[in-house]
Amino acid sequence: QKVVLAYSGGLDTSVILKWLLEQGYEVFAYMADIGQQEDFDAAREKALKIGASDVFIEDMRKEFVTDYIFPVFKANALYEGRYLLGTAIARPLIAKKQIEIANNLGAAYVSHGATGKGNDQVRFELSYYALNPKIKIISPWKNKDFLAAFKGRTDLLAYAEKHGIPTKQTASKPYSEDDNLLHISHEAGILEDPAHECEESIYSHTTSPENAPDTPVRIRIRFRDGIPVEVENLTDGTVKTDALELFEYLNQMGSEHGIGRLDMVENRFVGIKSRGVYETPGGSILHAAHKDIEGVAMDREVMRLRDMLAAKLGELVYNGFWFSPEMEFIMAAMDKSQELIDGDVFLKLYKGTAYPVARTSPSSLYNQELSSMDIEGGYNQEDAEGFIRINAIRLMAHRRIVNQ
Ligand code: ARG
Ligand code: SIN
Repeated sequence: QKVVLAYSGGLDTSVILKWLLEQGYEVFAYMADIGQQEDFDAAREKALKIGASDVFIEDMRKEFVTDYIFPVFKANALYEGRYLLGTAIARPLIAKKQIEIANNLGAAYVSHGATGKGNDQVRFELSYYALNPKIKIISPWKNKDFLAAFKGRTDLLAYAEKHGIPTKQTASKPYSEDDNLLHISHEAGILEDPAHECEESIYSHTTSPENAPDTPVRIRIRFRDGIPVEVENLTDGTVKTDALELFEYLNQMGSEHGIGRLDMVENRFVGIKSRGVYETPGGSILHAAHKDIEGVAMDREVMRLRDMLAAKLGELVYNGFWFSPEMEFIMAAMDKSQELIDGDVFLKLYKGTAYPVARTSPSSLYNQELSSMDIEGGYNQEDAEGFIRINAIRLMAHRRIVNQ
């Protein structure tokens, strides 16, 4: 029986690979390159050495940016008002390719190394089922035999040792990380105590705002239909227009200027609270810029409705419902809301913040004469008297009742 395992090269999935072989499966390892810091050649060697029949390494960075990151940023989606969803957005893409590989190989099974306590198991497995209703899932961390054999990290290490699985790099960090183009997350282990401040040494994708350059850099981001299509560094003239290059460039700028750190306690879908430390440099710049262009180009009532749906979208993505009818429905509404979101945002990047300082848009709804304190601009201020009086009717009625 063939199984396609989402392989990371780390300790857990290496042990899982070997364990699946011992259960009698033929194992195909699959690695998604979504921009994580990884020695893919070494990981391939390792998987083959453990006994994988083949290793598939897929470069999905471009698709990740254009089909996953940009659509979610078009919606300004956040989870619980803060988290930019860096891990959650990547999971459906990883699952999608894994199912494609399984279908091509005629494999009946897929497997992954996410624990039974987290969000990732839900995101992977909901995506698997949604894309291939016949798929069978082997989730070792929810398997009785596996759990009996491996009670913790020590057992994993002992097993790895016994089977000649190298563990050097993996044993060094006493917390868990998930790295991709959009963000890196740090959680668990020494970060489990939310009262304990995260050490500076744990941050790896951003310089600390304190150590960031003393002079700001100015950039311009151009949007078309709510999607960034051009980034210009106004200090040195660098211009990027390719989606992947542009996003990598925002990451580089954000990283240098200490932008995009977040340390929070969040609610996992399974009901557990968890502390996460995130670094989302480019994404944080993009989020700030996109909101800013909407300030001039988006109608107020569309914005209100969009914001309501954005909160829901954040939840859907976080909870793993990427491939769902409700997601398609919301995304169609989001696309509609972005049809006129065009123009340039000018930002100052400085010591941890991406600060929009100017914006221009061909579809701007801003009317300087109307807004001006000095010009009448076709607005009759006397009209405001009736506008306020009529709005006050309810308030006056309420006051009369409560004063009785
Ligand atoms: N708490 C974040 C989320 O649920 C990050 C999860 C990180 N996953 C991991 N396997 N380390 O999106
Ligand atoms: C895991 O439990 O495998 C990682 C954390 C999460 O999925 O929330």
